[in-house]
Amino acid sequence: MFENIPSAPRDAILGLTEAFRSDSRPEKINLSVGVYQDHGGQTPVLEVVREAEQQMAAEWTSKAYLPISGSPDYAKRVQSLLLGADHEAVRGGRVATFQTPGGTGALRVAADFLHAHYPRATVWLSDPTWANHPNIFAAAGVATKTYAYYNPATHGLAADRMLEAIEKIPAGDVILLHACCHNPTGIDPGPDQWQAIVTAVRKQGLLPLLDFAYQGFAEGTEEDAASLRRFCQGDAELVVCSSFSKNFGLYCERVGALSVVSRSMENCQAVQSQVKRAIRTNYSNPPLHGAEIVHRILQDEPWRARWQQELGQMRGRIGDMRRLLVKKLVEQGVQEDYSFINRQRGMFSYTGLSQGQVDQLREQHAVYIVGSGRINVAGINSANVDRLAKAIGAVVAP
Ligand SMILES: Cc1ncc(COP(=O)(O)O)c(C=O)c1O
Repeated sequence: MFENIPSAPRDAILGLTEAFRSDSRPEKINLSVGVYQDHGGQTPVLEVVREAEQQMAAEWTSKAYLPISGSPDYAKRVQSLLLGADHEAVRGGRVATFQTPGGTGALRVAADFLHAHYPRATVWLSDPTWANHPNIFAAAGVATKTYAYYNPATHGLAADRMLEAIEKIPAGDVILLHACCHNPTGIDPGPDQWQAIVTAVRKQGLLPLLDFAYQGFAEGTEEDAASLRRFCQGDAELVVCSSFSKNFGLYCERVGALSVVSRSMENCQAVQSQVKRAIRTNYSNPPLHGAEIVHRILQDEPWRARWQQELGQMRGRIGDMRRLLVKKLVEQGVQEDYSFINRQRGMFSYTGLSQGQVDQLREQHAVYIVGSGRINVAGINSANVDRLAKAIGAVVAP
């Protein structure tokens, strides 16, 4: 049976990580992976998470299954984090939230739901986008196309071209938008640009699907939710795929949520029953551990405040490393203006480095970054920033 199975193409980022591991140069730097790292290069367990886990271990008496949708208490916490306390759509019974295995699980369930009910709809993705987006929708049988997003000349948003593209998308299609901290570019629309996007999406009759994997990594949990709250006004319909992998550091626990905002409570109940079908045939019901950690922390005021503080430290460190890298590049005498790195948000920065420069960085300087020129800013620290700036300076020198 398996004789004629060809090997799948290697995952580009995991392939780089393997190459990094087997690189014997002691000064090597890995900026390719998509996880937060502290000053010592570790991906830490948040202290408040550790405490919640200890409490859980002492109190848990059962590991029985959760409902298909997951924990209702967790869902309530997710809704208030996304939409704010006491949102009209939540009060009106128009929001259905499903606990999912990570943001990826939420995206896959959303894709299965879309495929089952809108088999002819296309999902429009930003160009570029997270590499897994097209694969997730393809695996569910959903067609994807792209809309303009990035302007390499300005290292900023291609706002006009993006709006022009949206105005050509057929009604009934789905548009996926990164709610904040766009991966891979780090470039988000400003408030006025968001408003123009919301208006264009509504006018065009598109279903917005917001991927919200980095809440709290740009400005703060409330500020970062402003984009999706703009979409959730009046009788708007909306899909949100959110994740606690990054903002709670719960990567391996697989904890996220799919939230669907409908026009009426009746619509919401029907949607809920159909999404539950999609989940039942996919993974049946979600894992408890990570979601229970999140729920316990969010419902306890002192713990919640400590989580916000630890999240603020991660956000602050990334901002500091952006500024430090830009400063060091100037000090190295690099001619090009890299100040755009300070305007980007979240964990990633699109540096504008070409594939050739990326290869040179790896081969000659043991600096590993992905082929698109995206770096994980959290991989920078005071011990490696000088070497990094020097290496970039060497490959961009005319
Ligand atoms: C844009 C985007 N969406 C979704 C995800 C998925 O996150 P999770 O690890 O929770 O599945 C990621 C993770 O890197 C991401 O960058």
